[in-house]
Amino acid sequence: MSHYSNLNQDNKELKIYRPFGPSIGHCKLPQELIEDFNKDCDGIVASKEKSKIHDFSDDLVGNVKQELIISPETFEKWAPYFQKLMTAYIEAHPDNSRELQKIVFKSGWYVRSFEGDFNPLHYHTNCHVSCVGYLSLPEGIEEEWKKEDQDHYPTAGGIEMQFGQVHLFSTNTVRIRPKVGDYYIFPWWMYHMVYPFRTKGERRSFSFNVFGAPREEQKKINYYPTLIFSIIMPSLIDFSCHPNS
Ligand SMILES: [Fe+2]
Repeated sequence: MSHYSNLNQDNKELKIYRPFGPSIGHCKLPQELIEDFNKDCDGIVASKEKSKIHDFSDDLVGNVKQELIISPETFEKWAPYFQKLMTAYIEAHPDNSRELQKIVFKSGWYVRSFEGDFNPLHYHTNCHVSCVGYLSLPEGIEEEWKKEDQDHYPTAGGIEMQFGQVHLFSTNTVRIRPKVGDYYIFPWWMYHMVYPFRTKGERRSFSFNVFGAPREEQKKINYYPTLIFSIIMPSLIDFSCHPNS
């Protein structure tokens, strides 16, 4: 994971542990998945009718050009792949994993943002786990980032995640610069935001939300508060599968 909060990474003698706080999962997506998702998104964008049907912007907080629901057939092809990742993330937390054995994908959407767009601070409700994967970046954004790096607090085009309060020897945010193929999993309640950039072109990502339920019986999940920033699940994508099945 490349970000600006790597503690002490050049020091060979002292290793700093940071075992508290929320877990962020990270991996590289297969090229075939990136191509499938981009093709699906391009196909939706190319059709006025599809763009209207897939429009998800009323349910999301982004101040961006387009937010579009991922086609169910595209998502379903990759559901077993994401199921494995989500299972690995959940099972890395034994205190939580017993109650979250059945994985239910509730929605998935693309975010198409262009120069000046941004995504305000928010979190995802009505789910347990969420994620983001990066599908494309504007050509030439590396140049913008080189200039940004001369600043003491580079942010353009990056995502920032925030948890708790800053304390002595304890940070409360992590900034991550997107790379095509990078994929991150995080808990629903993690505040995050995306900063604008100036380079012309598209920054494209996808996200989806996941419920976890006990394997035997999916209990009605009704203990989450309804909040202004709620991301309401569309009925277009709603299927479930069991880990290891
Ligand atoms: Fe988000």
